[in-house]
Amino acid sequence: MAPKVIVLHGPNLNLLGIREPDVYGSQTLQDIDDELEKLAMQFGVELKIVQSNHEGELVDVIQGAKDWADGAVINPGALTHYSIAVRDAVAAIGLPTIEVHLSNIHGREEFRHSSVVAPVCIGQIAGFGSNSYVLGLRALCDHLKATVLE
Ligand code: DQA
Repeated sequence: MAPKVIVLHGPNLNLLGIREPDVYGSQTLQDIDDELEKLAMQFGVELKIVQSNHEGELVDVIQGAKDWADGAVINPGALTHYSIAVRDAVAAIGLPTIEVHLSNIHGREEFRHSSVVAPVCIGQIAGFGSNSYVLGLRALCDHLKATVLE
């Protein structure tokens, strides 16, 4: 059976393309999702992609992923830096999760340097624009192949 991966986009990522393009690039969220779907076909994984501007909704989606997904790629947006609820949800479901960011959060304002979510993820990829998602999905697929699918 094809492994299943949930991709989560947090607040304001629906505005990609028009939102601070010098920081986040000119690709829209739809462009990124289309690229991920193509890659998923190549890797032989099934994707579910969700974007939400609401913390509680993201928590609901993360909890729901427990019964469906084998792993997750998450860009929690600003919630990265303060949402203990998102962190706890990721920890609670116990799925291998990769945190991704378009921008290099470590080279930006100090409040973006820390992530409360990263410690419960298997890794973090930041600073490669939309390629961060591509790298994140690739890393997760490699991880799943090496573990779940043995
Ligand atoms: C972001 C970085 C966050 O600091 C910011 O709040 C975002 C996007 C990124 O992908 O670079 O919304 O997660």
